[in-house]
Amino acid sequence: MLKRKRLDEISWEAYKSLSLEEQAPYLVQSNGRPYHVLIAQQFDRESLDNLCDLATRIRKIAKSKSGMGFLSDLLAHKRAMLYFHQPSSRTFLSFYAACQILGIGLAEVRDPSISSEQKGETMEDSVRTFSSYFDMIIMRTPIQGFVDKMAWMLSNTDRPLPIINAGSGADQHPTQALLDIYTLQRSFEKTGGLENKHIVFCGDLKRGRTVRSLARLLTFYPNIKQTFAAPDNLQIGDDILEQLRKAGVEYEVTNNFKSTIPNADAIYMTRIQDEWDKTPGETNRLAADAYSFTGADLEKLPRNSIIMHPLPRRNEIDTACDSDSRAVYWRQMRNGMWIRCALIATVFGRDTAINNYYTLNLK
Ligand code: CP
Repeated sequence: MLKRKRLDEISWEAYKSLSLEEQAPYLVQSNGRPYHVLIAQQFDRESLDNLCDLATRIRKIAKSKSGMGFLSDLLAHKRAMLYFHQPSSRTFLSFYAACQILGIGLAEVRDPSISSEQKGETMEDSVRTFSSYFDMIIMRTPIQGFVDKMAWMLSNTDRPLPIINAGSGADQHPTQALLDIYTLQRSFEKTGGLENKHIVFCGDLKRGRTVRSLARLLTFYPNIKQTFAAPDNLQIGDDILEQLRKAGVEYEVTNNFKSTIPNADAIYMTRIQDEWDKTPGETNRLAADAYSFTGADLEKLPRNSIIMHPLPRRNEIDTACDSDSRAVYWRQMRNGMWIRCALIATVFGRDTAINNYYTLNLK
């Protein structure tokens, strides 16, 4: 368990100069639960196992009307703000649904042009405004480091409240990585668990924040091999490879995606993130054939392997694959709602109540 350090006892400049691992203790509560959820580096194997177990229990509790009644009373005294400065379907809606399941009241700003930012208010002042009305802010922004700065800022006001990173810059998407871990764990439940598996990432690995966060979480599971299949200009960053080297993780970097399919336990496809192109059209068609998964590729994929995608997709997975039992991306998306329920319940300290309810009523 991480020993808590206080964000209100460190300057922003000193905090930002720390490595991500060094920042992690500033994001937990004194009881070890997460407070701000900003980076994949703040999780460890024990916290991942706890969140996955809790998500499964919530999923089972939610199957009955009485269970839903219990869940929806847990946090009925809390309110959350969804502040999304970038487009989103899954992350926004699954957080929205997770809050509804837990009884949390919700508000949203998805279109800053109808907020007072249109009148020149800064995003910083918007966040301070939200903190007057809400108990949690769930935030997506294209600006790398902005969620971290807001978490530090609010922790240094008289209205500190947790911030959850729902995707920041091209850098981190920690809650997507949590749902990916949950999906991998569920998918391999009957085939030996997540240990000893070969995970192949394909597509835009340079700017795909989901891959960057997931690659880190996978280091907590023994003997996982990670392969990164991408064209040179979209290949995974050296900072991630350095983390893998430090953790002693076996990895491979390749341009040849198709050759990896017969030996993969999980294929993790990604979209070309051309919204980050410096010039329009720079990369959007670059990888269309060599870095896509087709109906013909299903023949080469082992029987117990799975195909994942954080979605949205364009053409990097042929729709012909959708009905194959190894295509888990729709289930992956739904898992996001359960793991986000588990995360929010844990941040607000209601995990124990859920575990007790489960033991009494469903075990
Ligand atoms: N996976 C994901 O972040 O999807 P959205 O952009 O639709 O939220």
